[in-house]
Amino acid sequence: HRAWPGLIEAYRDRLAIGEGWDPVTLFEGGTPLVPAPHLSEATGCQAYLKVEGLNPTGSFKDRGMTMAVTDARARGQRAVLCASTGNTSASAAAYATRAGMTCAVLVPSGKIAMGKLAQAVMHGAKIIQVDGNFDDCLELARKTTSEYQSIGLVNSVNPVRIEGQKTAAFEICDVLGEAPDIHALPVGNAGNITAYWRGYSEYQADGVTGKRPRMLGVQAAGAAPLVSGAPVKNPETIATAIRIGAPASWNGAVAAKEESGGQFRAATDDEILAAYRFIAGREGVFVEPASAASVAGVLAAAEDGWLKPGQTLVCTVTGNGLKDPDTALLGMPEVKPIGVDPVAVAAALDLA
Ligand code: F0G
Repeated sequence: HRAWPGLIEAYRDRLAIGEGWDPVTLFEGGTPLVPAPHLSEATGCQAYLKVEGLNPTGSFKDRGMTMAVTDARARGQRAVLCASTGNTSASAAAYATRAGMTCAVLVPSGKIAMGKLAQAVMHGAKIIQVDGNFDDCLELARKTTSEYQSIGLVNSVNPVRIEGQKTAAFEICDVLGEAPDIHALPVGNAGNITAYWRGYSEYQADGVTGKRPRMLGVQAAGAAPLVSGAPVKNPETIATAIRIGAPASWNGAVAAKEESGGQFRAATDDEILAAYRFIAGREGVFVEPASAASVAGVLAAAEDGWLKPGQTLVCTVTGNGLKDPDTALLGMPEVKPIGVDPVAVAAALDLA
């Protein structure tokens, strides 16, 4: 048994790695594929959760960031910049500091989960709140890095990011021994669905697997440009991680859907919150609201017959629930503390 070496080492021969790269790693990847019996029962499928919240900074972004920051450092860049709804900024901040580089993040003011902000603060990033949404932040990040070329752009418009993120598809196939029938994931800026499709396609092309899954991309109903077919000007959803109206990897997402015989689907905030509580409450896996969109999507797809009984189904749950305690505790009634008294405990448990 050898310790997991991080994804650049683990998949070195399958990644576009630059000459002389010295990996900047926090030993990301190698996340568990957890069987989900309750989701299996609800969908009639054999369901698994790919738990990406167990990456070093608590989201799948670390897969892209180990590559992007390694690349930026190898190019001699001293600083990296990203736009973010929170997870990219947390990841960029951690990897940049690991690399001895400076990191600046552009975030939509007031719309990022508290845990993610705390991460960026602790890793020493320069945090710049922008009076606008994610799409505005990304445009600003692109303009800035094209004018100041000593700063590396580490959003998923950087192709090196996508390259790293495709390894999640490899890991799933390595565990299952074949690609699943269906792969569901939340879609915001659409880098991740593009990356998974690349990973599955490469494994199939090389004969490692015999098939590719149908891709189910799930967006929040208030931020569902891929479902409606047009950008959304003022995206709105409780799932702030995917509050995005103009996905940068639009074409990649459409290709994944079309080539796989897949589907885009919208989940309402209520459906997302129900799925969020379902997998935390039943499966024991606490994810952030955006991550639960994938589960909301498959529950709806089972309902209307798009899923077929017996299919193998993987849902990527993209980020850790601890990042957003505010949403978890929404609507919690205030409870009075009890006395130090077993009778009071029993009474609180309705056992008295
Ligand atoms: N789930 C989570 C938890 C995310 O943070 C994101 C994206 C997505 C899903 C969607 O992935 O953009 O590749 O389609 N978060 C970005 C960020 C936008 O800034 O952290 P995507």
